[in-house]
Amino acid sequence: MKGMKIKRIMFTEEELSGIVSGLADKINSDLKDAESLVVLCVLKGAAVFTTDLVRRLSIPDVRIEFIRASSYGREDVSSGNVTVGAVTGDIEGKDVLVVEDIIDTGRTLSELKERLKAMNPKSLRFCGLFDKPSRRTADFKADYIGAVIPDEFIVGYGLDYAEYYRHLPYVAVIEIND
Ligand code: PRP
Repeated sequence: MKGMKIKRIMFTEEELSGIVSGLADKINSDLKDAESLVVLCVLKGAAVFTTDLVRRLSIPDVRIEFIRASSYGREDVSSGNVTVGAVTGDIEGKDVLVVEDIIDTGRTLSELKERLKAMNPKSLRFCGLFDKPSRRTADFKADYIGAVIPDEFIVGYGLDYAEYYRHLPYVAVIEIND
């Protein structure tokens, strides 16, 4: 895309696979006695990560649901103004794992946590593939984090720049020259 350049690869496809397997191991171990789990994928960014993660889960009955959350503002910086859609299925009385691609200001998941709590799940856990703690403004802590990363703009493996590059199998740092 005009004005965008890949600076370097932050995580290769192989490294991502290792991170996702590590997260699945922890989740499987924590939920070893659970019969069922609702995996709630936060669209759009977590779509790629979620499909890889669920295929590594050993809980017998896994249901995948989706919710749309987006923070609007400039395309390259999370503004913290969050809009949240409806969950695609019922979560009342269920063990729920919310899957997110990246936690930045933390406002998306803080907002989501309040909305989901009001739907009375049995339990609520949060899994973020990437965490940028240096950008946090909301008081939010995930149960599972794949990798803590510096404050650089990344694309790939679900993460976009202006809605593109989510399809890349690796995660790359980009440079934007408007
Ligand atoms: C990104 C990301 C998280 C959120 C994190 O979503 O997927 O949902 O921002 O930022 P925060 O911690 O500051 O709230 P975005 O709004 O870009 O939508 P997308 O998932 O459709 O790309």
